[in-house]
Amino acid sequence: MTHFLDIHTTPTDALRNIIDNAKAMKTARAGLHKGTPDADQPLAGHMVALIFEKPSTRTRVSFDVGVRQMGGQTMVLSGADMQLGHGETIADTARVLSRYVDLIMIRTFEEQTLLDMAEYATVPVINGLTNRTHPCQIMADIMTFEEHNGPIKGKKVVWSGDGNNVFASFAHAAKQFEFDLVFTGPPPLDPEPALDGLYTTVRDPNEAVQGADLVVTDTWVSMHDPQSARERRHNQLRGYQVNDALMAKAKDNALFMHCLPAHRDDEATSSVMDGPHSVIFDEAENRLHAQKAIMRHCLGV
Ligand code: CP
Ligand code: NVA
Repeated sequence: MTHFLDIHTTPTDALRNIIDNAKAMKTARAGLHKGTPDADQPLAGHMVALIFEKPSTRTRVSFDVGVRQMGGQTMVLSGADMQLGHGETIADTARVLSRYVDLIMIRTFEEQTLLDMAEYATVPVINGLTNRTHPCQIMADIMTFEEHNGPIKGKKVVWSGDGNNVFASFAHAAKQFEFDLVFTGPPPLDPEPALDGLYTTVRDPNEAVQGADLVVTDTWVSMHDPQSARERRHNQLRGYQVNDALMAKAKDNALFMHCLPAHRDDEATSSVMDGPHSVIFDEAENRLHAQKAIMRHCLGV
């Protein structure tokens, strides 16, 4: 069974193949309407369940469109509308869904939910974000970096802000794709200790971004964070906003990324998000291509 649960638990050569296949599939359908089927239809006959226990725009639409382009069919399920949201166990849900569908993508809260789904499902499971990681996003981000600035190996990537789930997948990717990752943020929002050794910390954001090839940030308050944390987070993170002055300290050809959705003019200014370094909408597009390659990897098609 080939799940796609995290970047650090996927073999390095498989990760590289996914990126290369995603690039090839994107090139092959350049200029086509979004609804035009891929020529090879690798998911013909496949049924895919997309389960969301949290909101989503990009993940929901990009997986749905990706499956359809590859000739498969989807059902988009809200956790709250399933028995899952009313006490049925993940294990039973996984075993039942496996009788109906060929692939399961789940966005959930606790990582254990994802792991239980993978343990009990008899079809592949893909991580569409948990409180701890967001691997599909980072596969799209690596693809996006390499489209613009070539191989990411040996490059300097700086994360400014909250040491959250998206950062965690960047940290896993730093080891797998061999780039240098710097975290800059306040101590209370440091990444979880399990990630120690995968990145270095530089507290001063102006120092951290010197010579960066890529500057990345994300929302200051994630979906699993209590909304009551909002004001405190703003006070803690204000100094880590990615603005024009900070970007000017990175390399001239540095890229700016944000997985979106953004709170414009909080974690990053609109001048940066819409400015010459920004590749935020290429990242969003590449979710589609990267996830198509991930699904093919899981299904072996
Ligand atoms: N970046 C991302 O995963 O976006 P959604 O929450 O809209 O899916
Ligand atoms: N860190 C954010 C990412 C959203 C795609 C969250 O978990 O809410």
